[in-house]
Amino acid sequence: MDRSRWPVFVTGTVCRGFGRGSRDLGVPTANLSQEVVDGLPDFLVPGVYMGWASVDGGRVDKMVMSLGWNPFYANEKKTMEVHLMDKYEEEFYGSTLRVVVLEYIREEKSFSSVDELVRAIRSDIATARQRLDTPQYLAYKDFKFFTGDT
Ligand SMILES: Cc1cc2nc3c(=O)[nH]c(=O)nc-3n(C[C@H](O)[C@H](O)[C@H](O)COP(=O)(O)O)c2cc1C
Repeated sequence: MDRSRWPVFVTGTVCRGFGRGSRDLGVPTANLSQEVVDGLPDFLVPGVYMGWASVDGGRVDKMVMSLGWNPFYANEKKTMEVHLMDKYEEEFYGSTLRVVVLEYIREEKSFSSVDELVRAIRSDIATARQRLDTPQYLAYKDFKFFTGDT
């Protein structure tokens, strides 16, 4: 991995997903618009990532995200879905989401049940929670990028 290209900063509008995130999985996700997904750099390969995110310049929260085609659901469109780990409001369609993507966690997989998918997501969240508390990652929380001043 070429670290000089990291982290990846992404800004976009939150769009409607398929609505399964909270309904089936109990893990609400904010989907970014197709233009944003299409404009992501190629080195950001499909998979699960961790980092920080904020909605409309508000509090910066820990996030995990899934980028790709969700093999469990066999989506036809590539999506970028961000789960804000400490935010409980579920609907912020139309809001501006700012994301700093810091680290790849794993590739996207298909699972034999929704339960297994949920277990994998819970494990991603636990991994991210710990890693993001390290000083080199905490530093990004206060980046000007999040307040929209840059
Ligand atoms: C941290 C995280 C990891 C995920 N990992 C996978 C995965 O390995 N395979 C998969 O098919 N979907 C994965 N997903 C995507 C979920 O399937 C997706 O969030 C769900 O389908 C909701 O999509 P929707 O909001 O568009 O309805 C992951 C989502 C998150 C937030």
